[in-house]
Amino acid sequence: MNKQILLDNLRVIPDWPIKGVHFRDVTTMFKSPECIQELSNAMYDLYKDKGITKIVGIESRGFVLSSAAAYLLHAGIVLCRKPGKLPCETIQQSYAKEYGVDTIEIHKDAITPDDVVLLHDDLLATGGTMKAACDLVKKFHPKKIYCNFIIELQSEFPHARDIFDKDIEVTSLLQF
Ligand code: PRP
Ligand code: MG
Repeated sequence: MNKQILLDNLRVIPDWPIKGVHFRDVTTMFKSPECIQELSNAMYDLYKDKGITKIVGIESRGFVLSSAAAYLLHAGIVLCRKPGKLPCETIQQSYAKEYGVDTIEIHKDAITPDDVVLLHDDLLATGGTMKAACDLVKKFHPKKIYCNFIIELQSEFPHARDIFDKDIEVTSLLQF
């Protein structure tokens, strides 16, 4: 993977949305065709031998690469969405945020026990969103669960990986 081209295209916005946060904006990578190729090929290399049958994209920034990787891995895509967006019967998972509680959901017929599932999101910060997505996917009893992020904020959240079950393999493409 050509990390430099990714770093060159990752916009960092100081003090946004609040002072002290250096926001890493993946949209500047997403608009680069070279970055889309680098990122999706990197995901393909990581998971090509894992027998992935479904990629679960986390709304909304997780949707983008899930699609490219699903094409390369010959997998299907499942949308993990914020509440009230999916039209049919869903299974839900609620989780604590800094202020209040959030919920995500997946269509009830989207994953089956013979699936090998890769969950994908753009960012691992506290890990709260992905942990909830993993707990939600576990309710479908798939054969195996993998997790992937574009960016892992290791220095800011060094213990984020510890909240995932030990049998879930977690990878990230860029670490800060
Ligand atoms: C951001 C980011 C991850 C999540 C990471 O999404 O895209 O999904 O937060 O944070 P965590 O590890 O602390 O849970 P956001 O909820 O801002 O929504 P968006 O992707 O729709 O912009
Ligand atoms: Mg998100």
